[in-house]
Parts: sequence; C-alpha cells; structure tokens
Amino acid sequence: MRPTYFSAEQYLKQRRPIDPVRCFRPHAIERAVTWFQSHFSGQLIYAVKANMTPDVVQLVAQNGVRNFDVASLTEVDLIYHSIPNSNLFYMNPVKSRAHIRSAYYDYGVRCFSIDHVDELEKILTVTEQAKDLTIFVRLHCDDSGSVLPLGKKYGAEGSDAIELLKLVRQKAERLGVTFHVGSQAMQAETFGEAIRYAGDLVRRAGVLAELLNVGGGFPIFYKDGDPVDLTSYMSNIEQSLDAMPMVQGGEVFAEPGRALVAEAESLIVRVDGRRDNELFINDGGYGVLYDAANCDWIFPLHLISHHEGVCERTNAHDSELTGFQLWGPTCDAADHMKGPFFLPTCVKEGDYLEIHKTGAYGGVMASGFNGFGCYEEIFLEDDVMVSNFQPDAQVENVIKLIS
Ligand SMILES: Cc1ncc(COP(=O)(O)O)c(C=O)c1O
Repeated sequence: MRPTYFSAEQYLKQRRPIDPVRCFRPHAIERAVTWFQSHFSGQLIYAVKANMTPDVVQLVAQNGVRNFDVASLTEVDLIYHSIPNSNLFYMNPVKSRAHIRSAYYDYGVRCFSIDHVDELEKILTVTEQAKDLTIFVRLHCDDSGSVLPLGKKYGAEGSDAIELLKLVRQKAERLGVTFHVGSQAMQAETFGEAIRYAGDLVRRAGVLAELLNVGGGFPIFYKDGDPVDLTSYMSNIEQSLDAMPMVQGGEVFAEPGRALVAEAESLIVRVDGRRDNELFINDGGYGVLYDAANCDWIFPLHLISHHEGVCERTNAHDSELTGFQLWGPTCDAADHMKGPFFLPTCVKEGDYLEIHKTGAYGGVMASGFNGFGCYEEIFLEDDVMVSNFQPDAQVENVIKLIS
C-alpha cells in the first residue's frame, strides 16, 4: 500500500528521496471521469494505453467506466482479470492471428477495430466466421490540429473505406465507425469535422452504423495556449451527431486516455547537478518524461527547495524566473528535455521539482535503460496545477521552500 501525504512539500519535509517519485491523485481521476459523464451524452471507453497502473484502472472503473479500449493481449488480460463484467474493445487496427484467437476464445472479446480488408479476413478466419462480432471501421480523418497525429499509420480512406464499410455491414453483427483526431487535439471543431467526414463515407456506402466511437484526443492544459475548457469539444460533438447515418437506438462512445488520467499523477524529481541554465535531474526521456524529451512537451512544474534563504516563498510570477533545459539521468544525449521550463533562478543541486500532469503516457513509457526506472510511489491529496476540470480554481505557481 502506498503511503498518503497531503502534498509533495509535506512528503519532502520527511524524506529526501534519491529515486524519482510517482505521485498518484485518486481524486483527479474521479473528477475527470465525473466531468466526462456529466458533459458527454454517450458512453465512455477508457484507453488503457494511457496509464495501465492497476490502481489507476481500478479507480477509473470505480467511478463508473465499464468499457475499456485495449490494444494488446496484455491489456486484455489486465482488464479481464481486474475489472469483472467489463466490456473490452480491441481497437488496435492490426493484430496478430494468435492474439485475435486468444482474445475471442479465451477472453470473450467481441469488439474489434479494423482499417483494411485483410484484417477483416483475419478476424473472420480465426473466429470461424463468427456471427457475434462488432467491427469498428477505423476511418482516416484530419488530425493536423493535434500535437500527436496518428493518421499516418491508421485509417481507411475514400473508396477503400466505402468498400470496407459495405463488407463489414454484411459480415459483422454490428457495424461501428471510429476515428482518432490525434492526441492533444487543439481545436474542438476537428471532432465535428471528423464526424461529418465519416458520416459522408457511411452515406456513400449506403449503410447504417449501430455504433459511433469518436475516439480520444481530448486535450489537457499543459502550458499557456493549450485548451483548458473541454466544454466546447462536447458541444461540437453533440451538434454534429446528426451527420452520422445510424440505426435507431445507435450508441455513441468517446475513448479518451490522456484527458482521464493526465492529472492523476505528478512526478517528484531531484536536481543532481546544474550547469548554467541546464539542470540534470533523476528522470527523463527514458522514464516518465518521455513526452518532454521526444515531443518537446513542457509540463507545468514547481520548485521545492530545502535550501534555507535561497528562495523566498513567493509567487513565481513575482520572482525572477529562468528558462531551464533538463537532462535525464541516462548517458544518452537524446535524454534531453529542451523546455524551456521556467523555474526560479536560484534552483540548485539537491532541490526537488514537482512536475505535474504526468499521468498520461508517462509511467507506461518508462524503461529501465542504464539501470534507471525505479520509482517510489505515493498518494497525494492536494491539487494539481491548473486542472482542466476545475479551471477557476487555479493553483498558483508557488515556489515551495522547505527548511
Ligand atoms: C485507438 C485509440 N483510442 C484512444 C486513444 C487515446 O487517445 P488520447 O489519449 O489522446 O485521448 C488512442 C491513443 O493513441 C488510440 O490509439
């Protein structure tokens, strides 16, 4: 059982951890799930890939989510064994025959996504032409407004998409339509545009769908300029639903990963060295901070210093700030997070940083490269910096001084 503290500051008053610390905030999961449940008229599917920590998955389920997007047999197994009566959506468009077989026969998976006729043939052959399949056709859509587009890899287009929709309509018990507007989609309108584009293809195929899954991509506020208020995304979706030809009583789903769990974790790192505006910290691109190194992600963060008299406890806005680059602990020069991460100029070796909103695609990306990748784990009760789901209650960017 992980110990619970009120805040990172309180924890660091008692401890001087050498390894980085993953801090879990259960209330942040509850808040995100509740927000989606009250603002989205369809059902939620949690994209397990964003954070598969068993406690996180349990908290998502305890807050009422029964549907899980799984992309591998390992994720299938995790959800099957830990969340009884869950619905598994195997939404990776290309799967091995062995995994399809096991998912269908061993775990009872009936929902699969495809974006090519070959994958349909695979599923039908492996399941011996099963009559109880729900097949989602993954369609291409404009994902250029996202930070992490996925369309280069997946999504049927044009006449191929139309033929696939017709074929699935004949072969599957239920036809679903899905797309992904890219992760961290910065414009609400992309959802409506994708629904209209998909609806047009379905109309041209002359079919009706039982299910529409608008995918993930809902953004989290990381830095100035990022969307904070997700309400406009929801209204954009609701206003566009009529554009999708669906059977009466058809079901609508959204499949967020990032937006449900980003605020569920922060990371405490230690500054092991400083050279001018470069800080050497004990986690990085081969750890929870994968996105900071590989996508130049700038996470919100604050300094927690043990050095008396170095910093006054003050608002960061009022103090002298410097834009720092961060280096992770491995010997690879790619383990670099260029930032800039604005911190008080006084930061020095032995200080700690709390890096917020690391709950999505953080822990799942961490490897043991160079012998790093060990984390302490704690629960925290205080709030994250600037929550998407409570935009008015912004936590000030406080420089926390511990003596
Ligand atoms: C099929 C599918 N669904 C949902 C998601 C979750 O996306 P996000 O975390 O941006 O909400 C992803 C992310 O890659 C995905 O591939």
